[in-house]
Amino acid sequence: MIKINLEYSKIEKEVKSFDESKLKKVHEMIENKTGVGSDFLGWVNWPITFDKDELSKMKKVANNLRTKINVLLVVGIGGSYLGARAAEEMIRGLYSNDRVELIYIGNTISSTYTEQIVNYIKNKEFGIVNISKSGTTTEPGIAFRVFKKLLVDLKGKEVAKERIVAVTDKTKGALKQLATAEGYETFTIPDDIGGRFSVFTPVGIFPLLVSGINVDDIFKGAKKAMEDTKNIGNEAYKYAVARYILNAQKGYKAETLISYELQMQMFTEWWKQLFAESEGKDGKGLFPTSCVFSTDLHSLGQFIQEGTKNILFETIISVKKPNLDLNVPKNKEDLDGLNYLTSKSFHEINEVAIEGVIDAHANAGEVPNIILEFEKMDAEMFGYAAYWFMKACALSGYLLEINPFNQPGVEVYKTNMFKLLKKPGF
Ligand code: PA5
Repeated sequence: MIKINLEYSKIEKEVKSFDESKLKKVHEMIENKTGVGSDFLGWVNWPITFDKDELSKMKKVANNLRTKINVLLVVGIGGSYLGARAAEEMIRGLYSNDRVELIYIGNTISSTYTEQIVNYIKNKEFGIVNISKSGTTTEPGIAFRVFKKLLVDLKGKEVAKERIVAVTDKTKGALKQLATAEGYETFTIPDDIGGRFSVFTPVGIFPLLVSGINVDDIFKGAKKAMEDTKNIGNEAYKYAVARYILNAQKGYKAETLISYELQMQMFTEWWKQLFAESEGKDGKGLFPTSCVFSTDLHSLGQFIQEGTKNILFETIISVKKPNLDLNVPKNKEDLDGLNYLTSKSFHEINEVAIEGVIDAHANAGEVPNIILEFEKMDAEMFGYAAYWFMKACALSGYLLEINPFNQPGVEVYKTNMFKLLKKPGF
C-alpha cells in the first residue's frame, strides 16, 4: 500500500548496497525485543495481540455515547491526541458532515482557545474522553477540570458520569484514581506502549469509534503493514535506511514531509512527533518538519529551491487515489485562459504539480527527494501507514544507536513547569 521511489534521492545505490548484516541485527532487536527500550515494544505485534474484549466494550460504549452527543471533547496532548486527529482528518477529510464532531483540547494552555470552546459547546450535547498515560500532564489536566465542571453544571453529576470516559494507565496515576473515584468508564493504555506508538490502543481507537470511523479497517491495514515489514527487504526499511544515509553519512540535518492533501496535514504532525521524540536525543537525529503543497510552495518552496543547501531533504507523500475528485469547468469566454485544463481533473493537475515540483527541487534545486506512493486515504490506509512509519522509526532509531522509545527531553519541561507552578513535592 506504500511504495518507495528513490530515483530522486541521490542515494539510490547506497540504499541498495546497505550493509545487510547491520539491517538484520537491528531488525532482530525489534522483533526479538533485545534492544534498548525493548519494554516499550508492545506495539510491534499489537495489530494481532490487541485485547479483543476491550475493543468490543469500546464499541458498545462508543455507540451508546453516539446516541447522546453530537460533540466529543478529546482531552490529550502529544501521543495522547495526535494519532486520533491524524486518522480522523486523513480518513474523513476536513469538511465531512457524517460524524460526531471531535474537538481536541488540553494540547494548549491558550486561554482564548479554551474559552472559545467553552462558548462553542455550551449549547451542544457533548461528552468528554480524557486521555493521559501518566495522568499528571498539566495541559490536559486543567482543561479536563474546566470541561468536566461545565458538563456537571449543565447536566448534573449523573449525566456527566455517563458522558465521561477515561483512557489511562491500568493501575497508576491521578487520572486512574479520579476515574475510579468518579465511576467513569475506563480503557487502558498498555504499559509497554508509549504515547507516540499508541494510536491503535484505546488512545486512538476510542475517539475514532465515537466519531463513527471503521476501526476494524484500521486494524486490517495495521496488520497488513505488520506482515509486510516482517522481513528486512521491505519498503519501510528502505525509507529508514535512506534517511539514515542522508543524515549520518551525508550530513543532512532536517527532513520535511510533504503532502499535497490538506487532510494529511495532521498526519504529518503525528509523524513529526513520532520521529522527533524517538530520534532527537544524544545530540543526534533529523529535525522533522512538514509542508503542505501547493500552499507552502508559495512560502517555504522558495527556501527549498534556492536557500541553504545540504541541510534539508524532502519526503513526498503522493496519494494515488483521492477520496473525491472534480473537474475544472469549461467557460465559453475563457477570459482567464484556463480552458486548456478542462480535460483534466483537480487530482490530475495535482499529480502534474507533484511531478513538476520534484523535478524543480531535486534536479535544479539539488535537494534529495524520497517519494512515498500512498494507494489511497481511507481507514485501512491509515492503519497501514501509521504502522509502517512506526516500524521505520524503530529501525531508524536503532541504526542511530539511541533509545527510540523514551522522551527524557519532554520530561524536563514538564518538571520545570511543576516547579515554577509550585506543585507540591517539586
Ligand atoms: O509520546 C509521548 O509519550 C508524549 O508525547 C506523551 O504522549 C505526552 O507527553 C502526553 O503524556 P500523557 O499521556 O502522560 O499525558
